[in-house]
Amino acid sequence: MTANRTEKEQVRVHIRWMIRRDMPEVLQTEQESFEYSWTEEDFLRCLRQRNCIGMVAEQGERVVGFMIYELHKQKLHILNFAVHPQFRRVGVGCQMVTKLISKLSSHRRTRITLEVRETNLPAQLFFRSQGFKAVKVLRAFYEDSGEDAFLMQYRLADDAGDDFDEAVNRIAQFEES
Ligand SMILES: CC(C)(COP(=O)(O)OP(=O)(O)OC[C@H]1O[C@@H](n2cnc3c(N)ncnc32)[C@H](O)[C@@H]1OP(=O)(O)O)[C@@H](O)C(=O)NCCC(=O)NCCS
Repeated sequence: MTANRTEKEQVRVHIRWMIRRDMPEVLQTEQESFEYSWTEEDFLRCLRQRNCIGMVAEQGERVVGFMIYELHKQKLHILNFAVHPQFRRVGVGCQMVTKLISKLSSHRRTRITLEVRETNLPAQLFFRSQGFKAVKVLRAFYEDSGEDAFLMQYRLADDAGDDFDEAVNRIAQFEES
């Protein structure tokens, strides 16, 4: 780890496209991150789609985080995203989301969306810290657990596109005063 100039220790990562050889480390992070984890086949089926992209964050030789997202006409949609438990809270997730945000442009893709489980408070807080807002509750979204999802969205400041109604949601309980 490299010491940051701020009070917290941060890790600088190299972000690049995911390749086939990354799969064992990606799967390990996936399994250690989610109760209902994707299988290798789930990853491969997804990445075979033309509009689906995988990125990884590398620290030295080690893959410490990954993100799978879809390209849509006007937005990017995150399908899967995790940082290895040993590398959390040191800025890896933030660097990956910053990279994704840098791919937006005011005349093309202006938004990033994702669904997050209602019980996944760490991820909700993470995305909120990155400028995302919960815009909709998707009832019983997950077949595995029957949980609701929050649809979270990041919008470029000058995006004039359609808005969602601001959802009345349980994240509000955790608003900092
Ligand atoms: C969500 C996740 C990707 C965040 O990655 P990360 O590398 O730990 O995030 P960062 O270190 O860049 O965090 C940036 C900021 O987000 C917020 N944040 C991140 N994790 C948080 C947590 N567990 N609780 C509260 N806030 C959190 C903080 O504001 C943090 O800044 P700080 O550490 O200076 O306080 C990671 O926790 C993870 O892999 N979780 C399991 C998988 C998952 O839930 N994926 C998302 C599915 S929708």
